[in-house]
Amino acid sequence: MLIFGGSNSKKLARNVAALLHAKYADLEINHFPDGELYLKFPLPIRNEKVIIIQSHHPRPDETLVESAFAVETAKRMGAKKVIFVAPYLAFMRQDKEFHLGECISSRIMAKWLSAADEVITIDPHLHRYKNLNEVFKTKTKRLSANLLLAAYIDKHFRNEIIIGPDAESYQWAEHIAKYMHLHAHVMRKERFSSRKVRVFFQEKVVMKGKNAVIVDDIISSGHTVLEAIKSLKKLGTKKIYCLCVHGVFAEGALEKIKKTGASVIATDTIENPMGKISVAKLIAESLK
Ligand code: R5P
Repeated sequence: MLIFGGSNSKKLARNVAALLHAKYADLEINHFPDGELYLKFPLPIRNEKVIIIQSHHPRPDETLVESAFAVETAKRMGAKKVIFVAPYLAFMRQDKEFHLGECISSRIMAKWLSAADEVITIDPHLHRYKNLNEVFKTKTKRLSANLLLAAYIDKHFRNEIIIGPDAESYQWAEHIAKYMHLHAHVMRKERFSSRKVRVFFQEKVVMKGKNAVIVDDIISSGHTVLEAIKSLKKLGTKKIYCLCVHGVFAEGALEKIKKTGASVIATDTIENPMGKISVAKLIAESLK
């Protein structure tokens, strides 16, 4: 087994390889003077199982092209099997033509990556699609960091209530709460644009003297959790923690959330300063 790390996931890929005692190398990435991508496998590939690990954040457009080039090249070089691992799979949220003429990015991304024999990802954003095979033409495996988040909550927090900031987050919030025998409340979200949302409780919720753990798959612009924090503060919540699988933290989201006094914890599907929960073992187990 040969493991290669794309430019966004070298550290995580190296950790996965170490856990599996597998041979590892960074993909060689460069750019020609005109900006075109240059990609090279630094090791020969001969009838071996090749694993390419790459998250598509930051620089989603650029790193997706990198991944597509890498998968095709590994096949051409004679890999027995190519497994593409996207700890964070970008482009999944554009899963519909919301306005006439819009590109359904998730379908094109999936088409390119389907050149791999298998695609493995962690907590992909499945909303209108119910499973990955609705978009990918190749075999897929969907992992979840739910139990890693639950273990972190169990170890670090007390007297807490799990909060899902929108209907889609019930997949994480309710699963984690059930596993830990805790209460969960799922809030309602109205989205007006990619930067404007309203998040509120639909039912009566008692938070006074309690700690809240907001759980979501992605924190991107941060507006979803910022709105949830606002509502929770109004209810007299003691301490607020925001946990997410994918810490995208776009446009200064992390600083904005920290300013409210809430704490932020993420996994390392995307390299980020709050990535305290590692998914390396989860990925390594899936490759055995
Ligand atoms: C949306 O449905 C997701 O589960 C997240 O709540 C959303 O992507 C977070 O985005 P933002 O941080 O930009 O509000």
